[in-house]
Amino acid sequence: MNSQQIDRTLLKEITKRRTFAIISHPDAGKTTLTEKLLLFGGAIQQAGAVKSRKIARAATSDFLSIEQERGISVSSSVMKFAYKGYEINLLDTPGHKDFSEDTYRVLTAVDCAVMIIDNAKGVEPQTQKLMEVCRMRNTPIITFINKLDREGLEPLDIFEDIEDKLQIECVPLSWPIGMGKRFKGVYNLERKELGVFSPGYTPRDDDGVLIDDLSDTRLDELISPSQAQQLRDDIDLINGASDPFDLELYLNGTQTPVFFGSAINNFGVKEMLDAFVKIAPPPGKRSTATRDVDPQEQDFSGFTFKIQANMDPEHRDRIAFFRICSGKFTKGMKVRHHRIGKDIKISNATIFMAQERNNIEEAYPGDIIGIHNHGTIKIGDTFTTKEPLKFLGIPNFAPEHFRRVILKDPLKAKALNKGLIQLAEEGTIQVFRPLQGNMHIIGAVGVLQFEVTMARLKAEYNVSAAYETIDLSVARWVSCEDEKILKAFKKKNESRLTLDSEGWLTFLTTSEYQLGFAMEEWPQIEFHKTREHN
Ligand code: G4P
Repeated sequence: MNSQQIDRTLLKEITKRRTFAIISHPDAGKTTLTEKLLLFGGAIQQAGAVKSRKIARAATSDFLSIEQERGISVSSSVMKFAYKGYEINLLDTPGHKDFSEDTYRVLTAVDCAVMIIDNAKGVEPQTQKLMEVCRMRNTPIITFINKLDREGLEPLDIFEDIEDKLQIECVPLSWPIGMGKRFKGVYNLERKELGVFSPGYTPRDDDGVLIDDLSDTRLDELISPSQAQQLRDDIDLINGASDPFDLELYLNGTQTPVFFGSAINNFGVKEMLDAFVKIAPPPGKRSTATRDVDPQEQDFSGFTFKIQANMDPEHRDRIAFFRICSGKFTKGMKVRHHRIGKDIKISNATIFMAQERNNIEEAYPGDIIGIHNHGTIKIGDTFTTKEPLKFLGIPNFAPEHFRRVILKDPLKAKALNKGLIQLAEEGTIQVFRPLQGNMHIIGAVGVLQFEVTMARLKAEYNVSAAYETIDLSVARWVSCEDEKILKAFKKKNESRLTLDSEGWLTFLTTSEYQLGFAMEEWPQIEFHKTREHN
């Protein structure tokens, strides 16, 4: 095979890949939508498969049993399915009590996202937080407004809420006809097709009724004369009020195309999926500290964005979730682990399927592979068959919950230190050492991370420790170009300053209000919500 042919194969594989995550607030319908997408992709055969996993997860009361159900947490982390010739990787964003820094970090490994909004609730806090992360890389977002079979807010009020809270312009690609008991279906503005709602019925490709002129009287028969008139008025209004869909603006995260439907009734889902594969971007260039890496480059490269420890004492291995950014992966290939300067042979990589994990022979940019290791891989680590690269945009995120760690056996101080450093490297927790005093402070985005840390300290480092609550809720990494000002800031705020596990100066405080106060007092100091790895 000559290199030209290889190029074409690589390009073909890249072009058909879509790697995305769903962002939503708990209960908006992520599990339900995921299940419908997997059904369309043939990755699961019956409704209920994803849901039952979620129930199993929710029913297990402590995280240990969750983690021990390894099949649950690992195999649902990445769900791969094929649809109309596309290879789709759906990355799970844990969102209920397992909401953690991993939820944010998953978003650094995707090329696009689908945002679900509950039509009765509008934009909710977790969606807002996840959107902030998407903003960092201007990730393109498609919006699905769910639960139209229930009464909710008026569509235009939801648009206003999204535009207001998320600073992204909504462009409807479909429009709902009524809601709740009066929900009749959606009108697809692009295809000029009416989809008539029938609870529980899965629509087929040829179900839509073409109505390219809304004055067509068939509309009155298919829905009702009053709802047909309402639809005509609505479309007139939105045509006058909103900008047309612009692919470029969608791709740079300025506009979001909006679909309406009901995930539980499988209504509007296929329509959204069809648009998704068409407009969502395939894997693109990724920035590194030295240059941009093109997915079509022949040499293999990628980065680790999540590490999952095995809690089974018989198998103390970890799985590093690795996003391929360029080149082709083949089983058994040798790659350079640049941070430790060693070549490793990846012979047992895993590719994640909806229900099982399979050993893989090859994988392409956009794919996620799982690499087994025994604690040698850190978040952000790069493997390549090319020059050393440091991919950017896989940061630590400012924790919002804090605990002080109290050691039960003082002789174990060294082991505690070692354990915390390693757990910080794996992204399980963040560790801060106050400039004044010795006690470790640990920080997390979700409180389950504390439980994980304690259990792992005990199981892997034989350290018994306890937590003490601490009145902190905000962390910011600080920097300043002017050394003198930084010195003065440090002097004045010593009691609130710490060094994180990689030695970065971090300001910890009790509230956003206190943070605002400090920011006002020290305008030259920069307060960062994220920090890149060393
Ligand atoms: P999540 O993963 O985002 O947390 O949400 P999930 O899919 O579990 O959905 C949360 C609840 O909303 C579920 O109800 C689900 O059935 C319901 N739901 C999802 N999509 C729709 C929809 O289009 N219309 C309506 N009316 N409800 C929807 P539940 O009572 O919590 O669970 P279940 O007993 O129905 O399984």
